[in-house]
This record gives sequence, C-alpha cells and structure tokens, in this order.
Amino acid sequence: MNILLTGGAGYIATHTCLELLKAGHRAVIVDNYVNSQPEAVSRLEELAGQPVPHYVADVADREAMDRIFSENAFDAVIHFAGLKAVGESVHQPLRYYRNNLDTTLTLCETMQAHGVRRLVFSSSATVYGVPDEVPLREDMFCKGCTNPYGWTKYMIEKILGGVCDADPEWSVVLLRYFNPIGAHESGRIGEDPQGIPNNLMPFITQVAAGRLDHLSVFGNDYDTPDGTGVRDYIHVVDLARGHVAACDYAAGHAGCEIINLGTGVGYSVLDIVNAFERVNGVKIPYVIGPRRPGDVDACYADPAKARALLHWEAEKTLDDMCRDAWRWQSANPRGYRG
Ligand code: NAD
Ligand code: WQD
Repeated sequence: MNILLTGGAGYIATHTCLELLKAGHRAVIVDNYVNSQPEAVSRLEELAGQPVPHYVADVADREAMDRIFSENAFDAVIHFAGLKAVGESVHQPLRYYRNNLDTTLTLCETMQAHGVRRLVFSSSATVYGVPDEVPLREDMFCKGCTNPYGWTKYMIEKILGGVCDADPEWSVVLLRYFNPIGAHESGRIGEDPQGIPNNLMPFITQVAAGRLDHLSVFGNDYDTPDGTGVRDYIHVVDLARGHVAACDYAAGHAGCEIINLGTGVGYSVLDIVNAFERVNGVKIPYVIGPRRPGDVDACYADPAKARALLHWEAEKTLDDMCRDAWRWQSANPRGYRG
C-alpha cells in the first residue's frame, strides 16, 4: 500500500514508517515540524536505505493537502499529526482544539474529495479518563477526560465514528496507545522532547545523562503495590508494528473499530527506575514528591482485541525499553539537535 503519514517526522511516526517500509509498503510524510526536526526524516531515510518523500505543510492547510493528494495515489492514511502535551493543553486549550480538530477535519475532507477512505488514527488511553477498573477494554464507557488534549482525542474518535456511520465505504481504526517509550535499536531515532520532559522515561534518561539533577516521583500513596503510579509502557517499535497490522486490517474491513495498543502489563514508577538502573548500570537519583494533578493510580490495557483483530501483540520487554531509551539518549545527548 502507499500510505500517507501525517505528523510523519514525529516520534511514533518515524518508527512506524520504518516498519511499513520493512513490510513492503510505500510511505509519504507530511509534517510542519511544530514538534519535530527535519533531521528525524534524514535519519529515517538513512535507516530505511531509501529516500522517503516528504512534504513540509500544515495538515490543516486544505490547498497544501489537495496538492499532496493530487501528486500521490494513497491507499490509506495514518493520522499522527497533533499536539500532545497534556499540561500545555490545559494552558492553551484553544490552540489544542484548533490544531487537533482542524487537522483531522481537513484531512478527512481531502481524503473524501480524493476517494481515499482508509484511516488509522493515533488516539490515546487518555480517553478512558479516570477508570473505574483495570485492565481497560475498548467497550468501557468513557466518563470524561481530565484535560483538553484528552478531549481532542475523544472528539476526534466521535467525528471519525460519524464519518463511518454516514458512509459505509470508510474504514477507520482508532488506536488507543498506552505509554510508548524506548527507541529504535540503532539509537538513530527516538523521542526528542523540547524543554524539560513531561513524561517519565525521557525525564529518567535526561537524569541519567546528567542534564537533570534528579527525578521527582509524583506521589507514593497511590493504591498500587508500591504506592507509585502504574502504567502500561509499550516499546515504540512494538507500537509501530501495531500500525502495520492496523493498515492491513483496515484494507479488509469497513466501519470504525477502536483498538487498544498496550502490553496488558502494568509497571510502577519505581519498577521503571529500578529496571533502568539495573539494565544500564546508571544511577537515577530520585525524591518522592507530591501527586501530579490529573494522574490516576493505575492504567493498563486489555490487549485481547488487538490480538484477535490485528493478530498483533507486544513482544519487547521492559529491559528492551530501558536499554533502547538509554542508547538513544546517550548517543544523542541533545536529541536531533546534536
Ligand atoms: P510527536 O509530537 O513526536 O509527533 C507529532 C507530529 O505531528 C510532530 O512531528 C509535529 O510536528 C506534527 N504536527 C503537529 N501538528 C501538525 C500540523 N498541524 N500539521 C503538520 N504536522 C503537525 O508525537 P508522538 O509522540 O509521535 O505522537 C504521535 C501521535 O500519537 C499524536 O497524535 C499523539 O497525540 C498521539 N499519542 C501519543 C502518545 C505518546 O505518549 N507519545 C500517546 C498516545 C497518543
Ligand atoms: C507516567 C507515570 C506519573 C513524570 C501521558 C499522557 C497520556 C499519553 C501518555 C498521550 C505517572 C509518573 C512522570 C515524572 C513521575 N500521552 N511520573 N515523575 O501521565 O501516564 O500519560 O503520556 O496521549 O495521555 O497523559 O505518562 O510518562 O507522564 O507518567 O513520577 O517526572 O510516571 O505520575 O505515574 P502518563 P507519564
């Protein structure tokens, strides 16, 4: 298949692009680099051993998108483009709603105009909000999100569901990612957050690199075995393979399907710190701090639906995640900036 990756220069998309090419697909990228670097695409091409056609454009720019669709015959689109920082979305809600919704609406209108009706969307476990029980199943009722970023994902899920209801020729897979971490095993591509990281693993790798002094563990009084928050960390390369499986699935089915991409296993913050120290032989100084507003005790997937429908499951271990995250960080202390 010839597949368009919106937000294709980003963390998850670059890893997915490689897996798509490995599986024999063709890929085209569009990104405006609002949260990524052109260097990521150069590294991707180096790893792929081939050029990857790429456009610099805003996915909300209808003219630019029309041109891209006119110049290429796409079989499917994976829609990664979006702003993703939870805390930032609380302070800049309009920017988040505008960017995440406009990109999706413009993309779908352009797809419709060009007769492309197969879409895989980057949703998030954040749409489950504060769960009543874990593991989380796709058919559980979402009582509401805890931040504007989460609401954009929730709203986009509803929009895409409506598109499928209205036109039975559409095939949409809504992938709810849990906590993607790690990097390609080459250490050439990985997660490159701007400024101080919000997420646990990039924070840990920057402490390990000496860029940050210590980790603050956000609370140790949660209802979990060691009191620290439990999450479903998934290796980004496993996640990337899940997209290849989702594209194959979308090619053979119509309608809208929600699918969790997680491992089904929860690890606590201290589990991650301990594994990182053991695997990499690096010390991570930490202090126990207050809870972070909006955090939940535990969040992990029931991955049964992905197994059944996509014939996919995560294969990499927590040790792989820690090793690969550190290989990327230590080889690229300032990310793609050198
Ligand atoms: P990322 O920021 O690395 O990638 C997103 C890419 O989209 C960036 O390259 C950015 O420049 C681009 N982009 C944003 N707005 C754009 C626009 N208007 N036009 C063109 N390009 C635009 O993030 P990621 O971690 O790779 O996440 C990819 C997707 O997965 C996002 O939609 C994110 O919300 C979702 N997601 C991420 C996580 C996670 O923890 N990383 C978890 C669940 C869901
Ligand atoms: C993980 C655990 C923290 C940082 C977020 C988004 C979610 C999805 C994935 C996009 C929690 C603890 C963290 C730190 C800590 N993204 N922590 N000290 O919050 O589970 O999920 O990323 O869709 O929507 O909310 O991930 O990596 O921020 O936190 O103790 O400095 O680590 O409290 O228990 P989270 P995270």
